[in-house]
Amino acid sequence: MKIVEVRHPLIQHKLGLMRRAGVSTKDFRELATEVAALLTYEATKDLETAEETIEGWAGPLRVHRIKGKKITIVPILRAGLGMLPGVLDMIPSAKVSVVGVQRDEDTLQPVAYYEKLSGRMDQRIALIVDPMLATAGTLIAAVDMLKAAGCTRIKGLFLVAAPEGLARVEAAHPDIEIYTASIDQRLNEHGYILPGLGDAGDKIFGTK
Ligand code: URA
Repeated sequence: MKIVEVRHPLIQHKLGLMRRAGVSTKDFRELATEVAALLTYEATKDLETAEETIEGWAGPLRVHRIKGKKITIVPILRAGLGMLPGVLDMIPSAKVSVVGVQRDEDTLQPVAYYEKLSGRMDQRIALIVDPMLATAGTLIAAVDMLKAAGCTRIKGLFLVAAPEGLARVEAAHPDIEIYTASIDQRLNEHGYILPGLGDAGDKIFGTK
């Protein structure tokens, strides 16, 4: 599985600001948007382009245009919505496919409770967005949904990932690509990433 820890100075700086205890909702949200945009830049480096001739201000010239599979952004409810604006800033024409996954209290297994996907998923590159790749149960369920809909090119963008979660995704879906601003140390006994960001959903939405 391709795993890219994007160690760009801007990303490291912004993630450091997000890790401060007491960071405000406004700052956390803005920084999540900015880091999501920078991760998008990295995750789209391999998009295919084709040359075309246009009429420029000084006459005809050859320019590049993105071609091939169209992108759908896939925020996983709820926290994934916090990264959506940053990805849309970079790819304003992308379609958005929303998925909701929650843990069944009895079986502790992730269960999909909402799915509204773009059309022609077989012809799209899916960019899953979720701030935290922790145990990976949610991500694996989301990838299962996308593959069931015919999607064959799937990338995941995360602010922070845990080594345990990365190992689980690799075992379940070795064909996807992961882009993260940081691979942190480990999960704690409650499934939170250390040092991590705390509850990213609460920080994005200002809930407790
Ligand atoms: N979800 C979060 O919001 N934070 C974690 O550390 C793990 C899962």
